[in-house]
Order: sequence, then structure tokens, then C-alpha cells
Amino acid sequence: MNESAGGRLIIYFDNAATSFPKPPGVIDAVVHFMTSAGGNPGRSGHPLSVAAGEIVFAARKAVARLFGVANPMHVIFTANATTALNLAIQGITRQGDHVITTSMEHNSVIRPLVEMERQGRIILSIVPCSPEGIIDMRALEKTVMAETRVMVVNHASNVAGTVQPLVEIGAFCRKRGIILIADCAQSAGIIDISVEEECVDLLAFSGHKGLYGPTGTGGLVIAENFDASRLSPLIFGGTGSFSDKPVQPPFLPDRFESGTLNAAGISGLGAGISYLLDAYPGGLKGVRVHKERLVNCFHEKAARDLKGYIACVPAPQVKTGVVSFNLRMRSPSEVARILAGEYGIMSRAGLHCAPLAHRTMSTFPHGTVRFGFGIFNTEEEIGIAVSALKAIEERND
Ligand code: ALA
Repeated sequence: MNESAGGRLIIYFDNAATSFPKPPGVIDAVVHFMTSAGGNPGRSGHPLSVAAGEIVFAARKAVARLFGVANPMHVIFTANATTALNLAIQGITRQGDHVITTSMEHNSVIRPLVEMERQGRIILSIVPCSPEGIIDMRALEKTVMAETRVMVVNHASNVAGTVQPLVEIGAFCRKRGIILIADCAQSAGIIDISVEEECVDLLAFSGHKGLYGPTGTGGLVIAENFDASRLSPLIFGGTGSFSDKPVQPPFLPDRFESGTLNAAGISGLGAGISYLLDAYPGGLKGVRVHKERLVNCFHEKAARDLKGYIACVPAPQVKTGVVSFNLRMRSPSEVARILAGEYGIMSRAGLHCAPLAHRTMSTFPHGTVRFGFGIFNTEEEIGIAVSALKAIEERND
């Protein structure tokens, strides 16, 4: 249970949208940045600018460590995973490319791809997935053509909580010379990911979900064996380097980081990653064990106590603490509204910006109620939520 801004006790189950609360070290890091560093990193030579640059570099090292990248300069900070995905997708595709994606993608992937297809810049194929959201590898094999150059895959579904076989997909793409972009917005901070072992070329992550950083943080990791000159910047402008030249600097990370960074947010992101890797009991494995325990607890209690409970994915297949469900005879938006308004339980209902995923799971157009459990949630909170759902189910209105 947490106290919200208004002093009301709340249960926060919307960690797949953004995590709350943040670990104390994250808040301390942001306050430290705002009070003691505060300069513009990489711009001026004075102590506050240098201090800011050091804090940003420490966060870059933390991200590199998380994704098994030796060189922190291969970490590009962006405002969120959507910006990172747009940089990767728009920056790497060339006129006439065939691009493959899956039927479980978020709009942050589908919308840029469909827009590029509409403009006649790419040919797009969408590979089907099972109702639990797992890619059909045989269908993928059949989709490849001579012009196939890029594949974009959602690693962990924000709707189903299931995880794609990234190692298998990575090996498939590497064998055929296909550039692999992985959307790790929902898996970072939960699933161990190594860009090298998984053969990922470009990895987009969100900083404010499973990594417990502030909103406005995210980034793109470029594999060390990937030639970054193949990727065009999405944004051009000031970088604090090569200022005498009218062209973008060719080196990393400056080539892709024009404009002042969200250094205060990035300082919090670095602290969030350090908390997960060094302070949270068991590190990422501990996070997974905790979330799997919460998912199992919720499924057991809901299946036992709720007559109209419809689980979208069986509990053993849910790996990231995200459960999508419905109550028979109640719309998802109605359930989420009553949970929040009358019980102080925060969830997200509807299509979760992933209409294609909901079509795949046969939950389109109304969607589902989604609980996204985080590291601070407890089994006691789940008991309270199931009791609330039971009361909602039994209402006569
Ligand atoms: N993409 C985030 C979610 O699934 C915002 O809720």
C-alpha cells in the first residue's frame, strides 16, 4: 500500500505503464542532481557541467552493464522507448526494404512501420503469433524474401506478459543477414538480456518501467559489432562536440544525442538500475521470482473466488508480472474505473496501445483489465484486489 499525492492509501498495479513508487535511491539521485550537479552535461567546462557529465556517464555504464555491452558509448539516451524505436526503425530502413514484425507489437512499432509502408518506403509483413503471443517460427521462415533487411520484435508483451524466444529469433536473423531491432520496453529489468548472446543489433528500452527510473527516460543500445554509421540520426542539432562543423558528429553517442539530455532523469535511471542489480535481493532473478509469485497468487485467488474470471494467458506462461483478464458481464473500463475510484486500486484497461496484440489474443475491441505487478507489490495487496473484484462482480448496477 502506498500513499498517493492526496494522502489516500492506494494499491498501484500499473507498473507496466510506469513503475510506482520508485526506490528511495532514485529520488535521492534526482534531488542530488537538481541541488548539487545541475549543469548541462558535455556543454561547458565548469564544475557543474562536469559533475552532470559524470553522472550521465555513470548511468550509461549502468545501462551497458545491464545489457552486456562493454562500451558505454553504445548507449544512446532518448526520452522514452518510443523515440528509441523510431530512431532504430526510421534510421536503419532504406527505400524498398522488406521489414518483418509480429502481431504482438505495440503502436510504437506498428505506427512508424505502417506510416513508412503508406509512404511507399518499405514493404511490411506481420508474422502471426499464438493467442498467448508467441511467434510462429515457421510462418517467420516463410515470410523472408530477398529484400528482407530488418526485423522488429517485441520482446515481452505489455498485454500478455509472455516473452518471445529472442535467442532463437536472433540466431534466425543473424544467419540470414537481417538486422534485428528488439523492443525491450517491458522486459528490461526483469529478463536477463545480452545483446551479443541474443544477436540483437539495436535494443530499445524504457527507463521508467522495469528499470525504476523517472518518466522521460529510455534509450537505444547499439551492439558493439554493429556498424553504427549504417544508422541515420532522427534528430540533428547541438551536441557540445564538433561545434565548428555544420554536420552531425560521426561518433557515439553524440551522433544520436542532439539537444540537452534529461540529465536529472538519467541520474535517477542510473540509480534505478544500480538498485535492481546491486541492492534488490537476488538481482533480476529475484525480481522474476517475486513477480512470478504474485502472478500465481493472483491467478489462484481469482480463479477460486471470482465466478466470471477470464484469464487471457495461463499463469505459467506469464514471465513479467503482467496479467490481463476480464470479468464476465463487466467491461474492462468499468472494472478499472471502479477499482480506482472506489478501492484506490490502479490498473489499466482497454487496448494498452497494442490493438494488434489484442486481436491476436481475441480481446479486441474492448481489451482487458491489466494488472502490472512491480517489485513493491505484495500478496496481501493481491488479496485485497481480488476481494474488490468479487464485490464488483456481485454488484447489481
Ligand atoms: N506502453 C505502456 C503500457 O503498456 C504505456 O501501458
